[in-house]
Amino acid sequence: MFTLGDTVEIAEGRLRRPSSDGANLVLRRAVHDSRRVRPGDLFVALPGSRTDGHLHLEEAYARGARAALVRHTEGLPQTATNLVVVERPLRALYLLAAAWRACLTGTFVAVTGTCGKTGTRAVAAELLRGTHAVYSSPENYNTEIGVPLAVLEMEEGDDVGLFELGTERPGEIAPLARLVAPDLAVITRIGHGHLDGFGSLEAITEEKWQIVSAPERTPHAVINADDSRLADRAARWGGALTRFGSREGDVLGVAREPTPPLHVDLRDPPLELAFGLVGTHHVTSILAAVTVALELGVPPDALRERAARCRPQPHRLELLDAPFGGILDDSYNANPESSLAAIEAHASLATSIPGRALVFGKMLGLGEESARWHRVVLERALHAGFDPIFLVGDAPRAAAGWASDEVRSRLTFIDSDDPREMADAVRRRLEATGGTVLLVKGSRALGLERLVERLTS
Ligand SMILES: Nc1ncnc2c1ncn2[C@@H]1O[C@H](COP(=O)(O)OP(=O)(O)OP(=O)(O)O)[C@@H](O)[C@H]1O
Ligand SMILES: [Mg+2]
Repeated sequence: MFTLGDTVEIAEGRLRRPSSDGANLVLRRAVHDSRRVRPGDLFVALPGSRTDGHLHLEEAYARGARAALVRHTEGLPQTATNLVVVERPLRALYLLAAAWRACLTGTFVAVTGTCGKTGTRAVAAELLRGTHAVYSSPENYNTEIGVPLAVLEMEEGDDVGLFELGTERPGEIAPLARLVAPDLAVITRIGHGHLDGFGSLEAITEEKWQIVSAPERTPHAVINADDSRLADRAARWGGALTRFGSREGDVLGVAREPTPPLHVDLRDPPLELAFGLVGTHHVTSILAAVTVALELGVPPDALRERAARCRPQPHRLELLDAPFGGILDDSYNANPESSLAAIEAHASLATSIPGRALVFGKMLGLGEESARWHRVVLERALHAGFDPIFLVGDAPRAAAGWASDEVRSRLTFIDSDDPREMADAVRRRLEATGGTVLLVKGSRALGLERLVERLTS
């Protein structure tokens, strides 16, 4: 990254408590989570909803931070040297990332969409490695904090950078798209994610399209032609465009059941690929990633072997062993599209375990459409034969209000949010079955991965 001197200048900060070797210091990365700090990092002290970065300087420096972006020096530990004092650390972080972006010459790929951003990034990283030196942004770094941190982590030797851009309300994608300035801008699909922040699917489509229209230099757009909203939006656009899809597109492919492995038959170029993933809906992320790989010159033959390396991302349709049979852990997050996809993925599962059960946790962010969508998902789960179904939270419970006695006998209401109590309730009911694969799905805020941890341990 930058020298300490450049960091002070770019961040428009004032240097306090300089260390004796500060003049020659080159900072490695910017990090806002003190637990992630490695020697040579710049620690960025941001205010958060649960804590404030200024309270974690001691840990950051103990782990090897060499400088910190802070709002003040008051009460900070003596070990904290090279303090770059700024009025707004988040703005300073953005300035640093923008300056670093200007130094990098690799190809930038940015992915947005309601679902499948992380999946696309992860598959694209596997398909590109071996042909390119790939930087792939960490975990789920897709916000106004995560994206600049990710940009600052990319190194000058990386020739492809893969980034995710997320949004919860209008106006969030544009600054991220300007910062990343992608060469390839990918949109996976439009769905009911954060509907309360947008109001309509049209508004969501316009927001996602900012990944194409906001950057100063227009990128090559890569879009899902099966998504009618994206296809319509792209048809009104005159720039470079590659469309992928299962029904139409420049890169065409269809997925086959059962899974895993997930077989995707590409029509053009003709190629059979097998991925270690559960669920045919992944075809969207896979075709998006294949399109990126082909655009960036990966030979089609190399795709086959690299596809086989792809595995689920943590808590995204991960098949795990459990004492009662197995768990299909999709506890990472939930919206209507991904919940319906998870139900279908479970149905596509190649397993000899006969039972199918579901933990259905609340889907947040649906605003006025919440009741309708919880009912749609519950009805689909009942129709798919899940028995029992554990309902967690008020909205899933309310969705069962109409249920007949026969249906009610398949439902268990969980009122506790304590993972131990939840796990006890699930175990009690599943013990009597002769082997069950339990699908676990719910919004991020429910933290259902803690339930999964209890059930698998
Ligand atoms: N095309 C798709 N249609 C429906 N569901 C999908 C699709 N692609 C991925 N999903 C599901 O969406 C969930 C989240 O996947 P992933 O993490 O890749 O998405 P994301 O866009 O990064 O989400 P987030 O914005 O929450 O980080 C998973 O349950 C995954 O199975
Ligand atoms: Mg993500």
